[in-house]
Amino acid sequence: MKKTRELGFATRAIHAGQEPDPLTGAVTVPIYPTSTYVQQGIGENKGYEYSRVTNPTRTRLEENLASLEGGIAARVFSSGMAAIHALVTMLKSGDHVVCGNDLYGGTPRLFNQVMSDFGLEFSYIDTTEANNVERAIRKNTRLVYVETPTNPMMRISDLAAISAICRRKKVALAVDNTFMSPYFQQPLALGADLVVHSTTKFLNGHSDGLGGVVVCAREEHAEKLAFLQKASGAILSPFECWLVLRGVKTLAARMEIHHPSGRAVADFLSKHPKVEADFYP
Ligand SMILES: Cc1ncc(COP(=O)(O)O)c(C=O)c1O
Repeated sequence: MKKTRELGFATRAIHAGQEPDPLTGAVTVPIYPTSTYVQQGIGENKGYEYSRVTNPTRTRLEENLASLEGGIAARVFSSGMAAIHALVTMLKSGDHVVCGNDLYGGTPRLFNQVMSDFGLEFSYIDTTEANNVERAIRKNTRLVYVETPTNPMMRISDLAAISAICRRKKVALAVDNTFMSPYFQQPLALGADLVVHSTTKFLNGHSDGLGGVVVCAREEHAEKLAFLQKASGAILSPFECWLVLRGVKTLAARMEIHHPSGRAVADFLSKHPKVEADFYP
């Protein structure tokens, strides 16, 4: 088989990280509902020791999502919020984060009501104007956190322009890509360092499980997030990893249908006498 990055998106959604099971030839990744693994000797194992640290079903999902976002690694968590929490716990007390001002409401709740008690500082700005990001960056800014399009107002930010600023200022850029999915937008290719998803939405696609992922472009982030999975333990269960692996196989097909459906709803609303034109840019 060609290297997975050379294959098309829809093919990678089905095959990346999903080689047939070596034991049985099963073409679907098995669910490994095990807490621990037998050791051949002290410190000798087959790459798996304890499922908070690593689990084969989770490994396969992480390989798959890393491939779809064009990252070097992905780390999955028990919800989108758990993924965002892990992301900001890579920071230290005294660090400052520049954030979009129309993020999904749970994100500023976590930042303002939990993380600020641990000494992190957050500023909220309109990231639809990239220059605002440059103006908001301080000496202690370590992260710019953008959602595009935003939930709920669907505001759009220019990721290439923001990532150019972040690179110049040596600040990491994280993007919540939940609502485009990697099918329509790949922030790492536009210069971002980290991508977050609530897999609960399009990646899973069946409304039958919560989940979250952080996809990394840099080894240091991948290592730190793997450590945080082990240290904090908010990992996704093998069964839910399997559900996302199953759901993601149809991501390309589903997004091709979501797109005209969303357009049709927007066109209908734009002509509705009770809808103000400003809401339909
Ligand atoms: C854009 C966005 N990011 C993150 C989250 C949080 O994800 P979860 O509900 O899986 O914790 C949501 C939830 O709606 C969301 O819409």
